[in-house]
Amino acid sequence: MSKAIYPGSFDPVTLGHLDIIERSAKIVDELVIGVLNNSAKSPLFSVEERVIMLREVTKNLSNVSVVAFQGLLVDFAEEIHANVIIRGLRAVTDFEYELQMTQTNKKLNPDVETIFLTTNVQYSYLSSSIVKEIGKYGRPLEHFVPKQIEQQVSEKLRKMQTEYK
Ligand code: COA
Repeated sequence: MSKAIYPGSFDPVTLGHLDIIERSAKIVDELVIGVLNNSAKSPLFSVEERVIMLREVTKNLSNVSVVAFQGLLVDFAEEIHANVIIRGLRAVTDFEYELQMTQTNKKLNPDVETIFLTTNVQYSYLSSSIVKEIGKYGRPLEHFVPKQIEQQVSEKLRKMQTEYK
């Protein structure tokens, strides 16, 4: 039985993330989306908001759950008895960072394997920062984030932009 974690910040979840989630859910028995609660970063959305958005966009996937975590990824994997980490590779520029992370995780826990999925080419340019940059200027986000959360993301970005004016 394979239980995998797809970890990330998801600030916010994008169509690129969702593509990786849907494809991973087909190849593992159970997929846990691990939302990093990193106190060193100042995300746009709280970890609770990110978890709720991810639950909303994955509610049709019966073997997918969403959990917040902090600390080391391998400790979280151990805690929930997951033996696989899923990561998406968008371009060759992702590779160096991902390789370093994978090798560190392997050193920390040799029983946990990392599987890379190449991001669908239509999302290879996409990141959460790009979504925030576009939304900040009031442009529609339909091509970038799942439709269930588009309004929430746009409103938050508009509000933030008004507050800083
Ligand atoms: N589609 C679209 N965007 C994607 C994507 C995809 N398939 N895959 C990654 N991205 C984007 C994200 O949106 C994010 O964009 P941003 O920088 O503009 O916010 C960027 O790529 C990287 O994000 P993400 O994949 O969420 O990784 P991360 O760097 O935020 O977090 C963790 C990676 C959570 C796996 C890692 O930090 C971690 O494990 N932390 C815990 C501490 C630890 O154990 N460290 C390991 C020891 S080295």
